[in-house]
Amino acid sequence: MNINDITVRFARPEDAVHADFIVNLIYESALQRGTGIAKRSPEYIAAKIEGGKSVVALHGDRLVGFSYIESWGHGDFVATSGLIVDPEYRHLGLAAAIKSKTFELARMRFPFAKIFSITTSLPVMKLNSRMGYKPVTFSELTDDEEFWRGCEGCRNYDILQRNNRRMCLCTGMLFDPKQPLPADEHPNPYLMKVRNSINKVLHRRKLAR
Ligand SMILES: CC(C)(COP(=O)(O)OP(=O)(O)OC[C@H]1O[C@@H](n2cnc3c(N)ncnc32)[C@H](O)[C@@H]1OP(=O)(O)O)[C@@H](O)C(=O)NCCC(=O)NCCS
Repeated sequence: MNINDITVRFARPEDAVHADFIVNLIYESALQRGTGIAKRSPEYIAAKIEGGKSVVALHGDRLVGFSYIESWGHGDFVATSGLIVDPEYRHLGLAAAIKSKTFELARMRFPFAKIFSITTSLPVMKLNSRMGYKPVTFSELTDDEEFWRGCEGCRNYDILQRNNRRMCLCTGMLFDPKQPLPADEHPNPYLMKVRNSINKVLHRRKLAR
């Protein structure tokens, strides 16, 4: 199996036919991992697909991966959720490709929103970190009741409640579009010096005119 045989793209309304399959895939994987998961109905997943808020990975007609986004707190936040890769297609770099496409979708549709995800998955934490997400306490995430109500179907919901929604088994990770650039994206100081010198000369010439 080669990742080049798989198409990762924004979902189209006709992809909603895969909603049942996606729900089962997410549920079966959560059972296998023994972790909690916010349960979603096929209707909910279909609505995300039809609303242009999801990403699919397809091998021919076969759906092999999925994720979706949703905005919260009147658009201040957008969550990336429901990441799943078919067990037969894991370790090919597919989650990385889906994550990156989902991130692109979130930035495109909600350019000013903070992007977050809550997860117990080490691979997901790794991928999030590479994209510039930082681990945060839940207090930094949306306080939109509707988002947290999504956790009600999770088997760890009592832990979240006991902690007054401040923490749970999931780690919160946040990408803030306003955060400073990573060190390697700062301008090169030598280039800055050259640019400043040129600007100074141009400025003096302008004054001399
Ligand atoms: C987690 C999951 C999405 C990863 O999918 P994948 O396509 O196999 O992941 P990738 O091949 O893109 O790998 C991404 C990175 O995670 C690592 N990784 C993947 N599976 C891993 C595992 N089980 N344990 C540790 N690391 C793992 C890979 O080595 C890779 O790291 P690298 O780039 O440093 O080599 C997939 O296993 C899955 O669907 N699991 C069940 C659902 C789930 O946990 N979803 C997340 C809920 S928030």
